[in-house]
Amino acid sequence: MKSFFVVATLAAAALAQRLHIAEPTAGQNLPTGQFFTAELRMDNTLSSMSQKSVLVAVTACYDVCDQPDQWGPGTVLYNGLFNPQYNVSAPQKSLYQDFRVQLPEGWPTGESVLAVAHQFTVGASEIPVFDYTTVHFNVTD
Ligand SMILES: *[C@@H]1O[C@H](CO)[C@@H](O)[C@H](O)[C@H]1NC(C)=O
Repeated sequence: MKSFFVVATLAAAALAQRLHIAEPTAGQNLPTGQFFTAELRMDNTLSSMSQKSVLVAVTACYDVCDQPDQWGPGTVLYNGLFNPQYNVSAPQKSLYQDFRVQLPEGWPTGESVLAVAHQFTVGASEIPVFDYTTVHFNVTD
């Protein structure tokens, strides 16, 4: 019980520091088939946090954007290491990493969802923690 409490406290502290999608912004227009930047930020991290990986995927949600349980399977644009860094030229961004990814050719126009699954660990014993963040954007011709 005591160790569960420690884990829950660490996880709650870590989740207060969850990942944010800084780009694309909500409602941003992105042309189908084009490269764009997905900028993922951590406002702050605990010294006991160790970043592991992110998976970035897009899903065209057609007319069910507000009903995640009806979304079809997403298309994975990036799946790999996450290593956010400070940039002395852009200190307001805190820790961040830019991923240059491509919306597939012929991607349906209209609303799509960018989803980021994020895995990290907390504590000396490297307890695995996961968070999931989405942003809705608009695909244009
Ligand atoms: C740091 O930020 C500046 C200004 O936004 C940018 O031009 C530069 O490419 C960034 N450096 C890295 C390593 O991302």
